[in-house]
Amino acid sequence: MPIAKIETRDRLIVGLDLPSVEAAEAMIARLGDSVTFYKIGYQLAYAGGLPLIRKLANAGKKVFADLKLHDIGNTVTKGVESIAKSGATFLTVHAYPQTMTAAVEGRGTSALRILGVTVLTSYNNADLQEAGYRLDVSALVETRARQAQAIGVDGLVCSGEEVTHLSKLVGSRLDLVVPGIRPAGSDAGDQKRVMTPGQAIKAGADYLVVARPVVAATDPKAAAEAIVTEIASALD
Ligand code: C5P
Repeated sequence: MPIAKIETRDRLIVGLDLPSVEAAEAMIARLGDSVTFYKIGYQLAYAGGLPLIRKLANAGKKVFADLKLHDIGNTVTKGVESIAKSGATFLTVHAYPQTMTAAVEGRGTSALRILGVTVLTSYNNADLQEAGYRLDVSALVETRARQAQAIGVDGLVCSGEEVTHLSKLVGSRLDLVVPGIRPAGSDAGDQKRVMTPGQAIKAGADYLVVARPVVAATDPKAAAEAIVTEIASALD
């Protein structure tokens, strides 16, 4: 179930999509109190960034471990048990029933919250068909969202396109975490379907994941503060 009251600033999750721990630590120092929630994904995790989860948690920050796990159940359960001890707040797993069930078992009663990745946003209907699926993207997203809720997963990562629908379908029970966010006027980069922070919050997003518009900004702290301000006014 979504955390009843989410602090406004905690709704902004800044992706530390940076090549080294040194670069990440420099960015964290620059952002200071403006950011309370960070995401560590493949790039930083595989560059020695996993210990940063504990370090950030000890410093009072929240961490989203975007590790997108998917393996046999026993391996997922044991992996999640380890990550639960790291102090992370969110962990992603691919939203296959076995994987989600195993992740929920590994989470146990810890504070870690499991997020299901329904269908990667780089997949379209043709990609799913090529991979052997008979459902199209929207049907598979909906099937997996229902399964996630039934299994007891805590939230979903979804695109801005899906958030309105998923908010109605499972939003009262699951945290909806939305990447692909671009403040008005900023560069979309390789994101094709973008939403502004205000649009995403109004559509039902609980958390926004933003990387480049903050970490590649000339003034990252000012960029983060502007997004928090926009979130606050969308919540009014
Ligand atoms: O730089 P940008 O704000 O586009 O980064 C978005 C972050 O969210 C990246 O870390 C990216 O991997 C992640 N993400 C995404 N789309 C998804 C899932 C995760 O952009 N569907």
